[in-house]
Amino acid sequence: MNRPTLAELIALEISRRGALKGLFATTAWLAGCGGRGSAVPVSMDAVTLRTGFEPVSHVSDATLRVPAGYTAEVVIRWGDALLPGAQNFDPVRPTPAGQAAQFGTNCDFIAYMPLPLGSQSADHGLLCVNHEYPYTPLMFPASMTDEKARVDVELNAVGHSVVEVKRGPTGWAVVPDSDYARRLKAVDTPMTVQGPAGGHHRLKTPEDPTGALVEGTFANCAGGVTPWGTVLTAEENFDKSFRGTGLDTPEAVNHRRFKFRGKSFQKWGDHYPRFDVDQRPTEPNRYGWIVEYDPYDRESVPVKRTALGRFMHECATTTLAPDGRVVVYSGDDKRDEYLYRFVSSGRYDRKVRENNRDLLDAGTLSVAQCSDGGRLRWVPLVHGRGPLVAENGFNDQGDVVIEARRAADLVGATPMDRPEDVEVDPVTGRVYVMLTENKTREMPNGANPRPQNKCGHVLELIPPMKGTAVDHAADEMGWSVLLLAGDPADAAAGARYGEGAGPENWLSNPDNAAFDGLGEFWIGTDGATKTYGKADGLFRCPVRGPNRGVPERFVAVPSGAELTGPCFTPDSKTLFFSVQPPGEGTAYDAPSTRWPDYDPARPPLSSVVAVTKDDGDFIGK
Ligand code: FEO
Ligand code: CA
Ligand code: CA
Repeated sequence: MNRPTLAELIALEISRRGALKGLFATTAWLAGCGGRGSAVPVSMDAVTLRTGFEPVSHVSDATLRVPAGYTAEVVIRWGDALLPGAQNFDPVRPTPAGQAAQFGTNCDFIAYMPLPLGSQSADHGLLCVNHEYPYTPLMFPASMTDEKARVDVELNAVGHSVVEVKRGPTGWAVVPDSDYARRLKAVDTPMTVQGPAGGHHRLKTPEDPTGALVEGTFANCAGGVTPWGTVLTAEENFDKSFRGTGLDTPEAVNHRRFKFRGKSFQKWGDHYPRFDVDQRPTEPNRYGWIVEYDPYDRESVPVKRTALGRFMHECATTTLAPDGRVVVYSGDDKRDEYLYRFVSSGRYDRKVRENNRDLLDAGTLSVAQCSDGGRLRWVPLVHGRGPLVAENGFNDQGDVVIEARRAADLVGATPMDRPEDVEVDPVTGRVYVMLTENKTREMPNGANPRPQNKCGHVLELIPPMKGTAVDHAADEMGWSVLLLAGDPADAAAGARYGEGAGPENWLSNPDNAAFDGLGEFWIGTDGATKTYGKADGLFRCPVRGPNRGVPERFVAVPSGAELTGPCFTPDSKTLFFSVQPPGEGTAYDAPSTRWPDYDPARPPLSSVVAVTKDDGDFIGK
């Protein structure tokens, strides 16, 4: 018998409830994580599909908590064997070769990609997971003193993993020796560079005179999924891995804008000139991109899609314009940086997957300019237009995308409070932007209304309609503030939530987010520990109906960790997320938690978690 589609499942559920009939039938294009089409409009008063779970209280301890009636299981941890023939790691003596075949460290973004390709399978798929950065204090015991060996482990521990998983009677498990299993790393992972900066002279290095072939990827934070079933992984804080400032090189203006510190968080540049800005001034221009790859083909070569601009990309959230052009939203996660949008020139071909292969290589990159009166204008970053000309150092579109930040400065973009994830409501088409904090903001603006914003906020973008479809390619949109985060008991924070929010209905420092298959919105946080001494976690936060803007805590992660990469299976009956990194702020020999194994011989391990409801129903129902 054929498995019912998500639309059928939802329709069944809706008719069973005798309410909301038809509201969600338009979400058939939803699959895994990330929207894949433009939504139809519905009333913002539409009741959302929510009933009760007992929210987890605001705590902070060494454990992971979910509500009663739910089970959280670890699917895969840093160091678990991944590639065929790999061994689980020995935390006391990790090796570069071992790590190269094991699940990486500090897992972040997750895309659940159903198997087979094109299906809505909710019990068999690929988890495509970012590994953001090596948190060295928790990675190595004091006994491991060989710095070069540490560096080589780190270079093999970051990047991205493809993990085949299946749900059986005992829960979710990794499929061993999978033909899909794959690691993308900072080393030994050739990827091409396409779009306006592909082969550009400012990307050429002694190791790569073509400027179009890079050895790997790192600083992979969040990402996205395309309608044609590829994965986008976003290179974010790449600056932290480079030694030097580059200020005595031809790239000085560029590097100054990216604020290379001189000193890196990692020691990579002490052992490899590739990671020394002063020795290799063009090498940093090869990072800060969106990387696209096909998880269904282990041999496929990842591609850096430079048309989407170079900055500290948090995410790459795709949707479609009414005419089928692909729209990608992406934030630059630094204080006072900007929100960007890319609109492809070509149109998505639903029938022939191959025809979409290079859609992200040509189109228009724009940056958001928000007026205080609730309007947003997308200002194109196009060579030759306005200030983006040779006298300002922009000789071609390659220069514009390489220095997207400086181009955005010149066209008057609006400085935001650290744009993190962006998600598109599958029901209304409204766009939600997580702004995580901006403690040092002095001058508020309408869309970033609080000075010294330590708790962050969520901005709602309201695209106009074009006929019956939401126009994500429109030049202008509206905006409003969904919520101002913070503890309501902290009067100085000036938090603001939806009507009826009680003293426990709060969150701080929104970061990653997701809509589930029923159209409910979920927000993960990163920073509540630093701001309030409380655990970060995941909150359900309706964006429609009477509880709009009222968060309820669903998960609390162990001390030190942030919750990243929330992601639902197409049937919304499993929630995946990453815990990154448990115990941050402490060290290997005396961590604040040893989650998930609580084994005194092992450090805390960043891991992917699956949550299911014990009665088999939808998450959050
Ligand atoms: Fe890597 Fe913006 O969080
Ligand atoms: Ca993030
Ligand atoms: Ca973050």
